[in-house]
Amino acid sequence: MNKIAQVKNAFDLTTYISAQESKGFLRFLTCGSVDDGKSTLIGRLLYDSKLLFEDQLAALEKDSRKHGTVAEDIDLALLVDGLEAEREQGITIDVAYRFFSTDKRKFIVADTPGHEQYTRNMVTGASTADLAILLVDARKGLLTQTRRHAFIASLLGVRHVVLAVNKIDLVDYNQARFEEIKAEFESFSSGFDFDSRQVIPLSARYGDNVTSASENLSWFNGPTLLEHLETVELDQHTSETAFRFPVQWVNRPNLDFRGYSGTVRGGAISVGDEICVAQSGKTSRLERIVTMDGDLLRAENGQSVTLTLTDEIDISRGDVLTPAKARPDMSDQFAAHLIWMSENAMLPGRPYLLKCSTKTVSASVTEIKHKVDVNTFDQHAAKQLTLNEIAFCNLALSEPIAFDPYEVNRDTGSFILIDRMTNETVGAGLIWFGLRRATNVHRQALDIDQKARGRLKGQKPAVLWFTGLSGSGKSTIANAVEQKLHSLGRHTYLLDGDNIRHGLNRDLGFTDADRVENIRRVAETAKLFVDAGLITLVSFISPFKAERQLARDLMEEGEFFEIFVNTSLEECEARDVKGLYAKARTGQIKNFTGISSPYEPPEKPELNLKTQSKTVDDLADEIVERLLNDGYIGTDNSWVI
Ligand code: ADX
Repeated sequence: MNKIAQVKNAFDLTTYISAQESKGFLRFLTCGSVDDGKSTLIGRLLYDSKLLFEDQLAALEKDSRKHGTVAEDIDLALLVDGLEAEREQGITIDVAYRFFSTDKRKFIVADTPGHEQYTRNMVTGASTADLAILLVDARKGLLTQTRRHAFIASLLGVRHVVLAVNKIDLVDYNQARFEEIKAEFESFSSGFDFDSRQVIPLSARYGDNVTSASENLSWFNGPTLLEHLETVELDQHTSETAFRFPVQWVNRPNLDFRGYSGTVRGGAISVGDEICVAQSGKTSRLERIVTMDGDLLRAENGQSVTLTLTDEIDISRGDVLTPAKARPDMSDQFAAHLIWMSENAMLPGRPYLLKCSTKTVSASVTEIKHKVDVNTFDQHAAKQLTLNEIAFCNLALSEPIAFDPYEVNRDTGSFILIDRMTNETVGAGLIWFGLRRATNVHRQALDIDQKARGRLKGQKPAVLWFTGLSGSGKSTIANAVEQKLHSLGRHTYLLDGDNIRHGLNRDLGFTDADRVENIRRVAETAKLFVDAGLITLVSFISPFKAERQLARDLMEEGEFFEIFVNTSLEECEARDVKGLYAKARTGQIKNFTGISSPYEPPEKPELNLKTQSKTVDDLADEIVERLLNDGYIGTDNSWVI
């Protein structure tokens, strides 16, 4: 019996799949841009196989007349474009899955929007697919995007690829054109490790060679698209993965029940098996597998269940339950392929949120080893990544997480990066290996700590972080504050942008990437100075919120005192003490803050200094008073924390 169903997220999908016998399923996705006729192709597959319900057909005919996109024909694209708006939002990546079946096979199509910026959806679709259909327009041939999608598909472990040369009607069913595209595809994809590569000419619009062979393509003696999908040989020998259960939430309805809910992401587990918490190494035994439909004796990959254990051990959301003998890797640094999906560039050193399974931590790229040119597959050095670029990188996390290499487990071996300010998903990553240096370097416990040093100096160490435009007065005010603190007997140090750029940061310029690194280094330096017991003044433009937040996060609560030196651009430009604004206006200086490079003002600084109409002395007094009032310093040396 034919059937069509839609399931809107991967969570439901895995449950659906596990409920069915997995044999006989082909999971595929289509990649291409909207203009290549992707929606029309999926629509055609469903329509020609008579897989639509009668009422859906009626609605479609009505819609097509209303939209009038394709004269008298039914616009098949309308069938699949409906969920677009819904897919565009949210921090989780949403892909719509469609189901259909023929006598030979059941199919799951990951339906992903095709605009270039939707690589993210393609990544999600491909991470569960057996086969990828790369769609090209016969008139245009292979595009950079086609190459990128082929590369991502191979990176994500998709085993089979089909190049569908669509709109063949628009080149008069010309065999020579088809052969030309085919030859180009075969040469560029030969380096990939696909199990099968098939090139098929077709017209989704007129149905040529989609589900039935066409007179117009009599020169083609290969299969129709559907025939190929029905017969492509799938590798049934997927190797056994170890049991992985990332805890989604701790289910504690009353004192008598404590269960761990989530979805099995690898292997299987049976009641009585020994279980281990990957993070802590604590072990216990599986007591019950609870589901809505009663208890189970065994849970397998893809099933959503609640587990209870025989012992009360400490487990929270984000922990991964595993067999004691097959634990995942644990590290706070690893090497990964990163696919960048945001209009805003990825800047090494910038903090992002990293979500791997159910665990979310802070993370940044410490080094781009190389980025990949998807046209030539050459490896290039890079300082940042822009939209759709793919690179091999090292990442550092705020704490160790449990993971497997992607080739061992696609779920526990992949992650997404989320922008901390906008909550947008900005990157997807595939983990290759943990970095050993992370496991071999341990923090050294020292006996004299920050508190002890502060006490000796009679002060509470903190960082006074001055931010503002060039020429806003940061360094002048910071200098005056330092003098006043010094005369009060306080121990201070002033880290000034211009000075540090002559030494520690002399290798850095003024690109966004360099500014991120500039601030990351000075934030780390400030942390050391605070640890040394000093009241540390930092005077850097520090134009980006993300890096000021990074600096704040490095310090303890209450140690970070952000001072916005709030002088307008007009005023700074009018003063132009160093003559830099004049040069920036004539283009002699590039990337100048406020002119050709952004400044993001703080939203909630500890102090917002409106500098205009006040003297430097008054402003410095304002800061010192605030430090006295807030208890950072006392009025004499007897002041003790
Ligand atoms: S930051 O943006 O990376 O924080 P930083 O405070 O270190 O900048 O350095 C800013 C100083 O460098 C300015 O006060 C100015 O003297 C000088 N400078 C030179 N070129 C630029 C530029 N393109 N943008 C801003 N400042 C510049």
